[in-house]
Amino acid sequence: NLKKIQVAIDGPASAGKSTVAKLVANNFSYVYCDTGAMYRSITLKAMRLGYNLSDEIRVVEMLKDTDISFEPNAEQQKVFLDGQEVTNEIRQEDVTNSVSEIASLSGVRFDLVKRQQQIASNGGIVMDGRDIGTTVLPNAEVKIFLIASVQERAERRLKDNAEKNIHVPLDQLKKEIEDRDYKDSHRQISPLVKADDAIEIDTTSMSISDVVNEISKIIKNNG
Ligand code: CDP
Ligand code: CDP
Repeated sequence: NLKKIQVAIDGPASAGKSTVAKLVANNFSYVYCDTGAMYRSITLKAMRLGYNLSDEIRVVEMLKDTDISFEPNAEQQKVFLDGQEVTNEIRQEDVTNSVSEIASLSGVRFDLVKRQQQIASNGGIVMDGRDIGTTVLPNAEVKIFLIASVQERAERRLKDNAEKNIHVPLDQLKKEIEDRDYKDSHRQISPLVKADDAIEIDTTSMSISDVVNEISKIIKNNG
């Protein structure tokens, strides 16, 4: 089937969305778009400028001359903020723990959702985030909602951190994940919620390739 569809992948922090979405996109030669990286990039920029992250007027004004772009890469997709690479910086703990605050501003979501819809407009896209199936791409042909237990997600993050020589205790990671899940699920605009027509996959005891295969099968059947 040659039809280039839209694939939306949502779910809570560290459920495996970006890892799996990237591999699925490769399988079908689709574009991968990490919307979390967009929210992270603007958080980094506002922090660098010393802005109060809840100052909506200032942050929205900042967005008018903010460029975010992706460079596909077999291993890890590179992220550019105003032409400068920020791939690793946007994953730092201070950004991670502040991004939900900026992501709750309606003016910010309005701006980024428009950019995301533009990127997805020609199909052939796998996009991951929190509100892709509900708000960004409500007509996506395939919608996946990935979940995993908090314990499992904290352990995944611990392992990721160890590889980067970052040491945060497991209990703290669990707390940070629960905190971010809570903020993302309870904000007024586009909260993290499973779309009615999304297929939920619990990845707690699944390998990455199990998840990729399951989603690829769903795409083949729907596309
Ligand atoms: O990879 P991880 O699960 O840590 O998060 P992410 O996908 O990089 O997203 C970081 C944060 O951006 C989330 O906790 C949300 O606050 C926000 N976000 C959002 O509000 N809407 C999206 N579509 C994607 C991310
Ligand atoms: O994008 P999101 O925050 O949802 O998660 P991620 O950054 O893609 O995945 C977090 C970690 O979980 C990565 O190190 C993945 O390799 C790992 N993972 C896993 O161990 N098993 C899975 N089924 C999926 C991801």
